[in-house]
Amino acid sequence: MKILAFETSCDDTAVSVVQDGVHVLAHVKHSQIEDHSPYGGVVPEIAARLHSEHWRPVLEQCLREADITIDDVDALAVTKGPGLQTSLLTGTVAASMLSQMYNTPLIPVHHVFGHIHSTALGRSFELFVYPLLCLTVSGGHTDFYECHGPLDVIKIGQTLDDAAGEAFDKCAKMLGLGYPGGPIVSQMAEEGDPTRFHFPRIMLEKESLNFSFSGLKAAIYRTVESEKNPEDPVFIRDVCAGFQQCVVETFLKKIHRALDQKPHLKQFHFVGGVSANKQLREAIQDLCQTRGVQFYTTTKFLYSTDNAAMIGAAAYQMWKANPDVAKIQYVDANPRMVL
Ligand code: KG4
Ligand code: ZN
Repeated sequence: MKILAFETSCDDTAVSVVQDGVHVLAHVKHSQIEDHSPYGGVVPEIAARLHSEHWRPVLEQCLREADITIDDVDALAVTKGPGLQTSLLTGTVAASMLSQMYNTPLIPVHHVFGHIHSTALGRSFELFVYPLLCLTVSGGHTDFYECHGPLDVIKIGQTLDDAAGEAFDKCAKMLGLGYPGGPIVSQMAEEGDPTRFHFPRIMLEKESLNFSFSGLKAAIYRTVESEKNPEDPVFIRDVCAGFQQCVVETFLKKIHRALDQKPHLKQFHFVGGVSANKQLREAIQDLCQTRGVQFYTTTKFLYSTDNAAMIGAAAYQMWKANPDVAKIQYVDANPRMVL
């Protein structure tokens, strides 16, 4: 089954063709990073304009790369939300129009649900053993999910304030490093001293699987404000190293806690933009090895950050479980939607 998937929830215009939920026949993405970088974050009006300019060339290139036409597509899929309302509109309107013009079913997909399925891309579903634990860490989410099957997903922990990706982005902004913060902060951290600054590791109550990153953000703010020379490259690298160390230790502690509480979970999946972080990936992989838990993250970094292939992977699972889902011809762009 070939699914043509669209993802325009934030600042990437992405289109992909995915076969049987795992084989990516083509993936094309137009990134808006350079357009938003001067503002230190995504400007919704600019994002909306660029999505509407780029969706068609991105779609055409994707079909060329997959060597198919829309007539060869079995179903369309689109991120229905959450995300920026005006960004979501381009994808949802484009997919709805194509669905009606070509009489092709359309499967609306929750963005986080897409991330949860991103580990399947380039692999085989047979590898996944349920129930499993999935940690989704992006610019808007930091969630633990206990997954009893591809569609049977229960949230068991979440951030109570900022998401970890948001903390990376705000840390970068305070240090004048541009947007998005994750890649640049982790690059700076590689050459910094992680012991110079000790930022708070917020664990909440003893049993809690929730997260909180706003205290870390405030600590970075105080450190930058009280520094005489905040543009000093050594200072910047050391803050980044201390910040990343704090994030890594917080995640390790919480993952240990989750696995202690849920010993029946034998696999751990790490997804979302922040899972592209090398230090975090390696530290979590080591933890899983020590605990005898199988570790999976995406097969390519580009499947960790926002992409359309993951939407195609999730849509395939939805269709497999209930072919009626593909009869849905409307989309729902409610930004507060639950999974
Ligand atoms: O999943 P994603 O692409 O978009 C959302 O759904 O939000 O995640 C974006 C987030 C941003 O906050 C970005 O700074 C972070 O992922 N990110 C990283 C890295 N690459 C992207 N964070 C840490 N290390 C990275 N290498
Ligand atoms: Zn995302």
